[in-house]
Amino acid sequence: MIKKTFFSASLLFAAFVLPIGCDDGQGTSTGETTTTSATGGSGGTGATGGGGTGGSTGGTAGTGGTGGTPVCEQGSQQSCYEGPAGTAEIGICKSGVATCLEDGSGYGPCEGQVLPAEENCTTLEDDDCDGVANEGDAGCVCNPGDQTDCYEGPDGTVGVGLCVGGKSTCAADGKSWGACEGQVLPADETCLTAGDDDCDGEPNEGGAGCTCVPGSMSTCYSGPPATLGKGLCTSGMQMCNDQGTGFGPCMGEILPEAETCLTAVDDDCDGQVNESGMGCVCSPNATVNCYTGPQGTQGVGICKAGTALCNDQGTQLGTCMNQVLPGVETCNTTVDDDCDGQVNESGAGCVCLPNSTAACYSGPMGTSGVGICKSGIQTCNAQGTAYGACIGEVLPATETCASPGDENCNGQSNEGCPVTYTNDVKPIFAAKCGGCHTGGGSGGHNIGLNYADTQLASYYCPGLTKGQCALVRIQNGSMPGSPPVTVAEQAIIQAWINAGMPQ
Ligand code: HEC
Repeated sequence: MIKKTFFSASLLFAAFVLPIGCDDGQGTSTGETTTTSATGGSGGTGATGGGGTGGSTGGTAGTGGTGGTPVCEQGSQQSCYEGPAGTAEIGICKSGVATCLEDGSGYGPCEGQVLPAEENCTTLEDDDCDGVANEGDAGCVCNPGDQTDCYEGPDGTVGVGLCVGGKSTCAADGKSWGACEGQVLPADETCLTAGDDDCDGEPNEGGAGCTCVPGSMSTCYSGPPATLGKGLCTSGMQMCNDQGTGFGPCMGEILPEAETCLTAVDDDCDGQVNESGMGCVCSPNATVNCYTGPQGTQGVGICKAGTALCNDQGTQLGTCMNQVLPGVETCNTTVDDDCDGQVNESGAGCVCLPNSTAACYSGPMGTSGVGICKSGIQTCNAQGTAYGACIGEVLPATETCASPGDENCNGQSNEGCPVTYTNDVKPIFAAKCGGCHTGGGSGGHNIGLNYADTQLASYYCPGLTKGQCALVRIQNGSMPGSPPVTVAEQAIIQAWINAGMPQ
């Protein structure tokens, strides 16, 4: 504890008050000690009153001896003092007055004197009359109720930051100073307060709640760390706030933005320039596939993509090189020239759709479908340039009497041929009469199948064969046939009979 004491000058002044109207204590007083006070009966000299010098206590004036010689004039007075030598008229001490007794035998008690007392720190006076008021030897350190500045912190901290001195009040007995009140001592620095807690001249330079030194600058970057320093992206500066609790806004930083080919730089700070974004059509300097033909034709037939070179800003592709676009379909090539998925379906040189089939007939007009003649099928070749052979067609041939058909396809069978059962009559009977005259039919004979049966004798037509009777019954309506036998057919049957019914 450091105390700065200020004693009042008035206290000290008391020590220099000079004695007034009094001797120096040795004066005329001769009684050296009170121990020699006269005793009654001895007659003799009465002790002279008055304080002896150096006596510890003033002796009481001896009572006058009886019958002794008077030592003082009745009623006379003289100064007296019974305190220790050197204290009279010092401080509060002062001499008194002793009065000569009526019988003149001596002086009465010393009245009015003030003797040394214990030094009282609560008074301004020099109570013990040693020449000093409230001296330290007596335990006095201050004047009760006085206040003094006080501060218990380290040197150089008072008045700095939050630290201030306090006041200490002197105790009521003057022997001690009270506690230093109102002082603020250095504390741990903290950013939880705004002031300089540790009184070192620097507010908030560290401690609880502090993140930075107030006013200090540091670099900052709020973008993704990997983007810092790439492309346009750079860090900024931020300043610590006055409280040291945080930084202010990051000023001057440049953050990633959406990549765009509208600028020539790496906007998104990924190390790549113009790789995507508005205005971008391709990756700078990249070679990319290209195709300018109609949708759906790329990769079909002869059509294929080419390549184009992107410019260094990604904003435009160069000419598409080496692509193959749809052409005119032609059967002069064996490929799908127009890239529609069909090969040689039309165009120059094309005759037919490859691999398609069509009816064909190379005989004279009007003969197809007549007699034995009929069309065939032809198949287009794989190139569409020609049909293959006509397969299955039947063309007109020389009419032959050996078979019943119309081989020359003129609508007549076996014209010019001799009439026979096999070629001419049998087909009529088989078609018109067969239901009853083939096999076990109800007619009982098989003129529709067997030549031999036509040569059997007829029951219905006595004298005729069954073959001859057939014409009779056709014409008389008893065997009209189903369907009816035509007049032309009847002529054939007649001719056959006329020829002698050859087999
Ligand atoms: C519905 C069945 C039927 C049909 C169709 C039919 N016949 Fe007959 N035919 C008969 C019967 C049954 C007989 C025997 C009885 C009779 O003579 O009337 C017969 C008898 C005959 C006879 C007589 C035989 C004899 O020995 O005299 C001749 C000839 C004959 N038919 C020719 C024909 C001819 C030709 C045709 C076709 C144009 C024909 N028939 C169609 C049922 C049929």
